[in-house]
Amino acid sequence: MRKIRKKEHVENYLRTTYKGNTLFEDVFIEHNSLPNLDFNHIDTTTSFLGRIVDYPIIINAMTGGAEFSQEINQDLALIAKEYNIPMAVGSQTIALCDDEECRESFTIVREIIGDEGIVIANLNAQSSIDEVNKALEMVKADAIQLHLNPAQEIVMLEGDRDFKGILENIETIVKTIDKPVIVKEVGFGISKEAASKLYNIGVRNVDISGFGGTNFIEIENIRYNSIDFSELYSWGIPTALSLIKCRELPEDLNIISSGGIRNSMDIVKSLILGGQMVGISGEILSYLLHGGYENAKDYMEATTHKMKIIMLLLGKKNIQELKTTEYKILGNLKDLLNGK
Ligand code: FNR
Repeated sequence: MRKIRKKEHVENYLRTTYKGNTLFEDVFIEHNSLPNLDFNHIDTTTSFLGRIVDYPIIINAMTGGAEFSQEINQDLALIAKEYNIPMAVGSQTIALCDDEECRESFTIVREIIGDEGIVIANLNAQSSIDEVNKALEMVKADAIQLHLNPAQEIVMLEGDRDFKGILENIETIVKTIDKPVIVKEVGFGISKEAASKLYNIGVRNVDISGFGGTNFIEIENIRYNSIDFSELYSWGIPTALSLIKCRELPEDLNIISSGGIRNSMDIVKSLILGGQMVGISGEILSYLLHGGYENAKDYMEATTHKMKIIMLLLGKKNIQELKTTEYKILGNLKDLLNGK
């Protein structure tokens, strides 16, 4: 059942048509006609989880557990290795009780990336300590993502209905596990209030995974049509809004900006608004499924190249400098921030 669901998620992701808005378009950054920089010296390296990565980009959690997902994970891991960027595997619940073959679609990621690279495990936030330890061990993970997905579960026919006690469970995990814990959404955004509750129980890494990209209400809606959930397609906190609001929390809360990250502009604006790293899922998956490994690699090559171009045109030679860029907030994003 789980294997079928995994396949349907990927297939139905490609069939979605609803276009959400991250509101990054309402963030204005200014051109600099006197950059005083050599393009070839633009430095995009950054530190994440105690290691140096070449770009502040994570290939974010998607899949694993079935034959088709092994191919996807293999190609994504090759790109993560090539660009020296972290990769998170999809939810490993399927591999905790399943066969060796199923585990292979996850373990292959670590095999390809090697010991020097960063691999992030992934489970739902209701998982037990034992499950977390198994998931970490399976991919020799540098950290674990615990996903929060009430909006997805509640529209899923076979999904969870009881969301009590999740915060307490996360607290137990954070206090027991000696690896970093990243609490993430799956495309509906994390509010400042939710992030604050997480911060207060000791969470220091959140992946906001906001609205504007992959839409799991639509994905689940395509899986069955007993109830039409289309009026909920607009549900969620736009990524730019979620990021700005969560950034009001103390500086030692690391924020990964994800959800609807499609291009170099989204990446640069995410970093300027205070994201430590930027996660991409659906967009790279689209390139991979439509044109194979080379196509996905070309997308990454072009995106990182354009990211450097924007850095040059802002006059910022490295990520640290980039993060000091001034910006203006316009339009709907401004109205939402001002409560209008
Ligand atoms: C996901 N996502 C996801 N997240 C997670 O924590 N565990 C998972 O197993 C999955 N599975 C998954 C499958 C597919 C096909 C997609 C497209 C996505 C959610 C993902 O990590 C991310 O949070 C959202 O997709 C929003 O980012 P994008 O896709 O808009 O860049």
